[in-house]
Amino acid sequence: MNSRELVSAAPACRICAGPVREWVDLGRQPVSNAFLRPRDVGAERFFRLAVGICADCAMVQQLEAMPTDHMFRADYPYRSSTSDGLRRHFEAVAGRLRDTELTGPGDLVVEIGCNDGLLLRTLGAAGVRHLGVDPSAGAAQAATAHGVEVRVDFFDERSATAIRAERGPAKVVFSANTISHIADIDEVFRGVDRLLTPDGIFVFEDRYVADIVEYAYFDQIYDEHFYLFSVRAVDAMVARFGFELVDVEHIPIHGGSLRYTVARPGARPRRPSVARMIDDEARYGLGEHDTYARFGRQIDRIGADLVALLTDLRGAGRRVVGYGATSKSATVTNYCGIGPDLVPYICDTTPEKQGRLSPGAHIPVRPHEAFADPYPDYALLFAWNHAEEIMAKERRFVEQGGRWILYVPHVHIV
Ligand code: SAM
Ligand code: TMP
Ligand code: ZN
Repeated sequence: MNSRELVSAAPACRICAGPVREWVDLGRQPVSNAFLRPRDVGAERFFRLAVGICADCAMVQQLEAMPTDHMFRADYPYRSSTSDGLRRHFEAVAGRLRDTELTGPGDLVVEIGCNDGLLLRTLGAAGVRHLGVDPSAGAAQAATAHGVEVRVDFFDERSATAIRAERGPAKVVFSANTISHIADIDEVFRGVDRLLTPDGIFVFEDRYVADIVEYAYFDQIYDEHFYLFSVRAVDAMVARFGFELVDVEHIPIHGGSLRYTVARPGARPRRPSVARMIDDEARYGLGEHDTYARFGRQIDRIGADLVALLTDLRGAGRRVVGYGATSKSATVTNYCGIGPDLVPYICDTTPEKQGRLSPGAHIPVRPHEAFADPYPDYALLFAWNHAEEIMAKERRFVEQGGRWILYVPHVHIV
């Protein structure tokens, strides 16, 4: 099949129909979470991974969308619960929602993209009425096994209407690392409108484009991250869809994310954080095309340096393995042309990824146990967003002389 048949062009902004100016092209890329069985090589889907900014509303977005049903299938392998850091994060979010919002006995919370249910496990165990909505049946099954109620479905106006009819309105709609994945985002807001109580809140967390630009996190750009949100663009977007952005918090998850709190207009006081961050973004040049053009030059440099380092290490007879078969690693390996010749395998704790080949680059994924059997000389840390947790866990690797290779914000060895 011709991969070009799978893509749809997005010449105009998906939010406001303004002109979108391209600022980076990361080339031909696969579905970032489509880990292959060896027999499936040759049947992969690819698309052009290019990002631009809308001249009118400043929303940063991809120019071509990978169809969602190629990404979020029954066998979608990502599992939030592989990270202790994320587990602690979602326990804290659950505690806060319970203390501040879900205070009434029958209050309902709906989570969009609950995956294996890290947040809702805690809320469910505390007796909170809840429903997760996630199309990835395997992840949903894992949530169900932990006592979480899940509807295996895409969240949109249709499913939200059905949920409202079955369970009544939701006091809180929550979502982490999912809203930015949904190109047809107007569906999300129509669904939230159907579902939310008059004084309810819609809270979502997603990676922050300012952190991506500041730290050259180019590998945060992959098929699933269709939008790279800024406060300015989200503020305009939610107003367009009939809501108000009332609060925004900068959180350290995944190298830098924002938690947006959205309410019906006038229902909640608008906190000063919103205007302050919009001002900060203007000063930083976050709405300017030139800011992103600089970032494009940094990416080229990182790619060249990383390939040079890996080639030198191979020439010197050093063993390098990858650590963490992240979605981000698809962008890095496919953009830089890094295959099993430079990184013979990647170790990962996710059973659904083990024994498979990484998308596009076809690097074998091995269980975590392979990392110490024997330790390599260098580990290329693809899961840098979990660096603290991983480096603490892998002290013995360093004690035995091993070194970590990081590639953002520049290629370096620690
Ligand atoms: N919320 C979890 C977290 O932060 O770790 C999981 C994030 S995972 C990157 C994105 C999840 O969103 C996947 O489980 C995917 O199946 C789900 N998803 C994608 N599109 C969706 C949609 N339209 N409605 C509901 N869930 C969706
Ligand atoms: P993410 O960067 O897309 O969140 O994916 C993280 C990947 O890293 C996931 O496949 C699990 C893997 N991982 C490990 O192998 N070991 C670890 O200690 C952690 C935290 C993650
Ligand atoms: Zn726009």
